[in-house]
Amino acid sequence: MTDLLDTFDWAAVGEDLAGSVTLVAGGARGTGRLVASNLLRLGARVAVVDLDPGRVAEVEKDFAEYGDRFLGLSGDCTVRSDMQDTAARVVEQFGALTGLVYCAGAYRAQRPTLEVDADEWDLILDSNLKGAFLAVQAAVPHLQRAGGGAIVAISSLAGRTSSPFLGCHYSAAKAGVLGLIRHVAKEFGPTGIRANSLCPGGIVGDRMNDLLTELHREQDLVELAKQTPLGRNVHEQDVVGAVLFLLSDLSRFVTGATLDVNGGILTV
Ligand SMILES: NC(=O)c1ccc[n+]([C@@H]2O[C@H](COP(=O)([O-])OP(=O)(O)OC[C@H]3O[C@@H](n4cnc5c(N)ncnc54)[C@H](O)[C@@H]3O)[C@@H](O)[C@H]2O)c1
Repeated sequence: MTDLLDTFDWAAVGEDLAGSVTLVAGGARGTGRLVASNLLRLGARVAVVDLDPGRVAEVEKDFAEYGDRFLGLSGDCTVRSDMQDTAARVVEQFGALTGLVYCAGAYRAQRPTLEVDADEWDLILDSNLKGAFLAVQAAVPHLQRAGGGAIVAISSLAGRTSSPFLGCHYSAAKAGVLGLIRHVAKEFGPTGIRANSLCPGGIVGDRMNDLLTELHREQDLVELAKQTPLGRNVHEQDVVGAVLFLLSDLSRFVTGATLDVNGGILTV
């Protein structure tokens, strides 16, 4: 049997990422921002699109050292023309697009399903699911022109089960992302595009802190860590590692997959 290393250049791992051009949607804060900074450190060209212009300006300032390898754009992923313009702008600046990471999405603290109004439902479904669909629609023709590429969508443990902190709309949206990405993997696989979903458990960071403070449940993270086989909660870096794997050639035959990043909590 041929060793993997006979056909795969281990020393070149990362080189494919260094040559990549990736659009990170919702990349001005949290996990998306960390994905962008790590790709930039690897030498890649990276664009971030985010709804919040203030955060985009901050990221532009922080990533100034990367010069014209970084592009920060304001835009709303739920608006088709914004996503089409974003993808076109990335290709105009970098000459191609080879990867899409969808991290955008609003959230609202959990309250009873019978009290969730239709506007809140739309906000969560639109930003987490419709936005992913519109980002895929905008990116795919460019990925195809590049001869293929990788799509990674951040779903959630809530899309596999339900959330102790977020509502019915969030679980529904994140489960929808899994279905969307499976379909995209099947439809565009023949054109060289891989598409995979990531399901992180609750990530230690700004968003989780804000949420637990709002719910007066700061202690719950300590309990969650105790229930997790690997003995701690998810860090943003854990998710970034999985994103880089799914963008890189290391996962060249992985598509349509749902990858859990939760320290094993789903299995207990
Ligand atoms: N934080 C967690 O505990 C956790 C756990 C599991 C999954 N996730 C998912 O991971 C992803 C990243 O999470 P995070 O904690 O980094 O989130 P975050 O709230 O820190 O960042 C999300 C970014 O998306 C942007 N955004 C929201 N709606 C948008 C829209 N319509 N168009 C463009 N940008 C928009 C926000 O402005 C923000 O900068 C999200 O999809 C989230 O649902 C998060």
